[in-house]
Amino acid sequence: MLERTGTMPATDQRHALSCQGLVYRAGERRLIDAIDLDFLSSGISTIVGYNGAGKSLLLRLLHGLLEPSEGSVLWNGTPLTATVRHRQAMVFQKPVILRRTVLDNIRFALASRGIHDRAQALAALEGVGLSGLENRPARLLSGGEKQRLALGQAIGCKPDVLFLDEATASLDPASVHAIEQIVLAASAEGTKIIMVTHDVGQARRLSDEVIFIDRGRVLEQAPARLFFANPKSGQAAAYLEGRLPETHQHPSKN
Ligand SMILES: Nc1ncnc2c1ncn2[C@@H]1O[C@H](COP(=O)(O)OP(=O)(O)OP(=O)(O)O)[C@@H](O)[C@H]1O
Ligand SMILES: [Mg+2]
Repeated sequence: MLERTGTMPATDQRHALSCQGLVYRAGERRLIDAIDLDFLSSGISTIVGYNGAGKSLLLRLLHGLLEPSEGSVLWNGTPLTATVRHRQAMVFQKPVILRRTVLDNIRFALASRGIHDRAQALAALEGVGLSGLENRPARLLSGGEKQRLALGQAIGCKPDVLFLDEATASLDPASVHAIEQIVLAASAEGTKIIMVTHDVGQARRLSDEVIFIDRGRVLEQAPARLFFANPKSGQAAAYLEGRLPETHQHPSKN
């Protein structure tokens, strides 16, 4: 079984993805409020924080699905291009599945990245444990199988960066375990993983580093072991203990 040690792989420690002065505004609200981050080009970075903190918005900005109001996202120091985005993939909580067979779903995803190799599609299915289901209509898969298919579509493209937004929420423990193993294997093969999860156990199991977001701001970016042993902010400590955010507590409870 693959396991995380909480230390970064020694191979490649370059900063591949970064953002500077990132702001995302909706009306008067700064939903993402001046975020600067550098991500190493390997390892698993996990973004955690309360509901509404801005985690999904941040992932979408980093992947170029949203245009920032201010600031920039850089790949090796230069702005994101279509080519760079083609080398990235994202998996959402609810997988997007086409009314086609399992294999055609994978082939479609790969073809959209310019990959027309049937063997690579079959290998991607095997990698996520869906061999034998090639010809099944994908809509008939269970929730866990659909999520594996979505991961197969993403990882099958051999992306430089894989974004996961609560990819294992609402799955049973066996499916969560299977998907965590797939993510660890992709990381071991060199894909940078940037994921959001509310599953603290999962964050502990997988993360090399943790980024804690609160109200659109980064309160902490720390190696996973340090973060879990000794969170620096009161908000992160409260989150890890399952308490309400400090500003949201009922006055009578204080
Ligand atoms: N397009 C939008 N226009 C206005 N407000 C938005 C928009 N998208 C998100 N928001 C708001 O921005 C805040 C951050 O949203 P986001 O989805 O990033 O939160 P999150 O940290 O992913 O939360 P959760 O843990 O619930 O998924 C929320 O208050 C949300 O309602
Ligand atoms: Mg979210």
